[in-house]
Order: sequence, then C-alpha cells, then structure tokens
Amino acid sequence: MNMAELKGHPVSIVEMGPRDGLQNEKMQLSTSVKAGLVDRLAASGLQRIETGSFVSPRWIPQMADSAEVFAGITRLPGVRYSALTPNMQGFDRAVQAGVDEVAVFAAASELFSQKNINCSIKESIRRFTDVCAAANAAGIPVRGYVSCAMGCPYQGDVPAADVAMAVRELMALGCYEVSIGDTIGTGTPQHVHDVLSRCLQEASADKLAMHFHDTYGQALANIMSGLQLGLSTIDASVAGLGGCPYAQGASGNVATEDVIFMLHGLGMDTGVDLSRLIDTSHWICAQLERHNQSRVALAGLPVARGA
Ligand code: HMG
Ligand code: MG
Repeated sequence: MNMAELKGHPVSIVEMGPRDGLQNEKMQLSTSVKAGLVDRLAASGLQRIETGSFVSPRWIPQMADSAEVFAGITRLPGVRYSALTPNMQGFDRAVQAGVDEVAVFAAASELFSQKNINCSIKESIRRFTDVCAAANAAGIPVRGYVSCAMGCPYQGDVPAADVAMAVRELMALGCYEVSIGDTIGTGTPQHVHDVLSRCLQEASADKLAMHFHDTYGQALANIMSGLQLGLSTIDASVAGLGGCPYAQGASGNVATEDVIFMLHGLGMDTGVDLSRLIDTSHWICAQLERHNQSRVALAGLPVARGA
C-alpha cells in the first residue's frame, strides 16, 4: 500500500498509557489518578484502552491495584477496557474485575521470557492455553503479544522465524490479534518490514498490531513501514510513558499524540480529539512529575492545522 492509498483507511489505536505507560513508574500513583487517566483517555475518543495488569504485585508493584482501577473507572459505551493476564490466577482476577478483554504475553527470545515471566517460551504457551480456553468459554476476547520481535536486551538479535513461530502459536490458541513488540525500540524500517512480512505468512494484516517502543526514535518510521504492509492497529502510550521493567533502558511506547498527528496528516480517521489528548498528556505528566516525551504535546497543535 502506498502513502496515498492510506487516506481514508480505517486505523485502530490501542492505548497503552495506563498499563505499559505506568508499570515502570517509580512514583506510586493513587488509584483515583489511574482511573482518572483511563477516563480522560476514553473521553478523548480512544476506544481500546489497556487499563491494567493482573500480574504478580511483587513483580510489578504499580499494577497491584488494577482491580480497584477497574472499579473506579466510568465506562463509556463502545470502549474496550483490557488487561494483561500471565496465568490463570491473573485471568480469574481480571474476570472478577470485569475486564472486556485480556492479553497474554509471550516472547520471541528465551532469555527475555525467563526474565519477564519466569518461565520458558514453551511453558508460557502452556499457561496461555489454559487462559485462552477459559477466556473462550467465558466469551472474553484474548489478545497476544510477542516481545523482543526486533531484538532482545539479553540475547541480541532475534530471528524473524522465532517471531513468526510465536505468532503462529498465539493464533493457534485463539488470540484474535497478535501485537508485535519492539520492546527495546531497536528496529528500523527495513528490519520491521522484514519481520512483519514473515509474520504475515502466519496471520493476515488485520490480525497483527504494531507495538513499538521509541527508545531510538524509530517508532513513527517503523509504523509507516507496517502501514504500508497493510497493518492498521497501532499500540501507543500517552506522553510516550513507559517501558518494561525487564528491559533496562528501554523507553516508552511511541507517544499516542505523535501517532495521531501523523495519521491525521495521512488523512486517516482515528476518532481521537487530539487537543483533548494533549491536555491529558500534560495532566498525567504533572501527576508523575515527569518530562513529557511527546513531541506533539510539547509543541502544541499548529494554528492552521487544527485537531
Ligand atoms: P512466579 O514467581 O514464577 O509465579 O511469577 P508463581 O506461580 O511461582 O507464584 C509466585 C507468587 O506470585 C505466589 O504468591 C502467587 O500467588 C503469585 P506467594 O504464594 O509467593 O505469596 N502470583 C500472582 N499474584 C497475582 N496475580 C497473578 C499471580 N501469579 C502468581 N497473576 C509471574 C510468574 C508470571 C506471575 C511473574 O513473573 C509476573 O507477574 N510477571 C509479570 C511481568 C510483567 O508484568 N512484565 C511487564 C509486562 S510485559 C511487557 O511490558 C511487554 C509488552 O508491553 C510487549 C513489549 O513491549 O514487548 C506486553
Ligand atoms: Mg511494551
């Protein structure tokens, strides 16, 4: 697909701020601020929001109150509020909290799997089999992630075939979509093109999502690479918040504001009110006493362009 063909093409944004964005923050935020963030994101027009994570509170303390966050949000119709669930214990907690969707997270790198979820890739798939079967029985959609798709902080290079293998296994478990994670942001557009092309042999473009951390400033270019291959689901985090505690030095997902600005420039409809999103971006950075990573939020909307 060339750039002109993208105009008018539907695109789906999955907001990561409340989960990937906050999970690595040292400052413990109150539950009401977390719920307030989710509500503000929904009010700006975002319809898919990863709201929390039902993982071990010892591993990720910031996510310990995800059930309370779910209880504290004001649900907007049409918005899907999802959460990570690494095992059955997490899944049961998530169901009790009333999630609309869950996500299981695998890796294409054995070492990362061990560091992040304390088990091998094979064992993680076995755990996810149980989660997917239970979710299927309960009518809850499951999203899959593949971490380290463009490189691993422990292993280094990751073969595209290993990423594709993980995609195949997650699809076989019944994931309706698999998000391809550049966990440490080292991917560049040709590399991303090659890895995604290999993944497209396992799943169609409408079943793959792009989850790019922006550590090396490549994420927007990498998203263009994926859009041109026909992918149209993009994970992003307000203010570029976040990072993975088990990938030292990796920065947050690409900022949602920056992605929306680019997509609107391409003539794609996101349904997001960028001006409201920028307000939320400044608000959450003030709560966290943190520098805003979004170039668009820092610059503000240009007068002539509007939202
Ligand atoms: P483990 O220690 O091997 O688990 O952790 P265990 O089964 O041996 O249980 C140990 C203790 O944890 C027990 O408690 C369990 O009850 C408890 P104890 O008896 O000692 O008091 N436990 C739980 N508690 C609450 N909820 C649960 C749960 N499971 C066990 N679900 C485990 C294994 C998977 C739980 C752990 O490694 C973990 O929580 N890891 C999560 C790490 C994480 O959240 N990483 C960040 C998210 S992934 C990411 O950011 C990448 C992504 O964005 C894509 C990308 O960018 O690449 C998705
Ligand atoms: Mg991530």
